[in-house]
Amino acid sequence: MKMDKDDLTALAAAKRPRLLKKSRKPASRPHVEQKKTLMKAAAIDRFGPPSVLKLHTVPVPEPGPGEVLIALHAAGVGVWDADIRGGWWPEGRPKFPLILGTDGAGTIAAMGSRVRRFRKNDRVWAYEFINPKGGFYAEYVAVNSEHVGRVPPRLDLLQAGAAAVTGLTALQGVADHLRVRPGETVLIYGASGAVGTLAIQFAKSRGARVLGTATGRDAATLVRRLGAAGVIDARSKRGIEELQALAPNGLDAVLAFAGGDGLERCLDLVRAGGRVAHPNGVEPEPKKRRNLKILSYDAVNGRREFDRLASAVEAAKLKVPIAAIYPLAQAAKAHERIMKGHVLGRIALRIR
Ligand SMILES: NC(=O)c1ccc[n+]([C@@H]2O[C@H](COP(=O)([O-])OP(=O)(O)OC[C@H]3O[C@@H](n4cnc5c(N)ncnc54)[C@H](OP(=O)(O)O)[C@@H]3O)[C@@H](O)[C@H]2O)c1
Repeated sequence: MKMDKDDLTALAAAKRPRLLKKSRKPASRPHVEQKKTLMKAAAIDRFGPPSVLKLHTVPVPEPGPGEVLIALHAAGVGVWDADIRGGWWPEGRPKFPLILGTDGAGTIAAMGSRVRRFRKNDRVWAYEFINPKGGFYAEYVAVNSEHVGRVPPRLDLLQAGAAAVTGLTALQGVADHLRVRPGETVLIYGASGAVGTLAIQFAKSRGARVLGTATGRDAATLVRRLGAAGVIDARSKRGIEELQALAPNGLDAVLAFAGGDGLERCLDLVRAGGRVAHPNGVEPEPKKRRNLKILSYDAVNGRREFDRLASAVEAAKLKVPIAAIYPLAQAAKAHERIMKGHVLGRIALRIR
């Protein structure tokens, strides 16, 4: 059959694949996620008082092959952050503007090519002491994926952001350095602070009888509520007598989050062969003693450590006391608050 030109055009149109036909319709807008290139961060341009900590607009860090980019919901504020802001720096000179913050929690926004452990939007927490790509007082942080863990279901992202480095420090002090065993009498010295409030709960969860030091009625009430069987004020003269009455056979172990004369008096009550541990940063460091093992340590931020922390959080039904929450733009106010002292639990920045 012979076809004329019009028939051939109609046949060609009929054979045209549906997709091609569809493409003639007005194009529907493709779903392309806009990559954010700039972010807000609380950073310093020089060392100085809290007022040097200001909101900056800076580039979103690019995660390297082994790194993840975390969209932060919250960051912890630590006494060491205030030290860094004031001029303490491990070595050399930092690159300004310097984004402060060593820990926080959020969701995975992007991953480097070598990262297999995480998926986008996973709830994660992380700790990196001096992160080469900027700290956690920011909308985004790029960190080594080995220093990131999954947030346990019990914690929301604000609680997790306030408990990453403090959780690791508390758990490792109790479980790895003191190796607290069921039935032991353990003193948490500085129990109402950021690490102490978590250490009470981990020691209790391991079956210890936990005693704590705290100054003031509000702090003592909190420490008791978190599981301490007894609380003393280490700064008061009566405190040491009360401790003696609470531990007539001596203390098996002490985990110290502050130092000084009060601590030394408590250490007199540690039984021979007892153990004492403190994270580095506690000053003055406890004096060396015969028959007493005194260990200093730094929190370890590995994959295994975060897994263990997540399990311990669930086992202890951990509560994360948060003394105050500030928006990112008010990071300077958070630093003013932490420098006043007597913080019950942790201070946090809410970022999203
Ligand atoms: N190396 C590491 O990996 C690492 C990690 C985390 C923390 N740290 C260090 O661990 C320490 C604790 O950190 P944190 O965040 O828990 O600090 P924090 O929140 O300030 O807690 C310190 C606690 O010690 C108490 N305290 C302070 N001075 C005292 C004194 N003279 N006598 C009795 N109690 C006293 C405080 O009570 P008041 O509030 O009543 O004064 C508070 O309960 C810091 O030195 C920090 O740098 C080190």
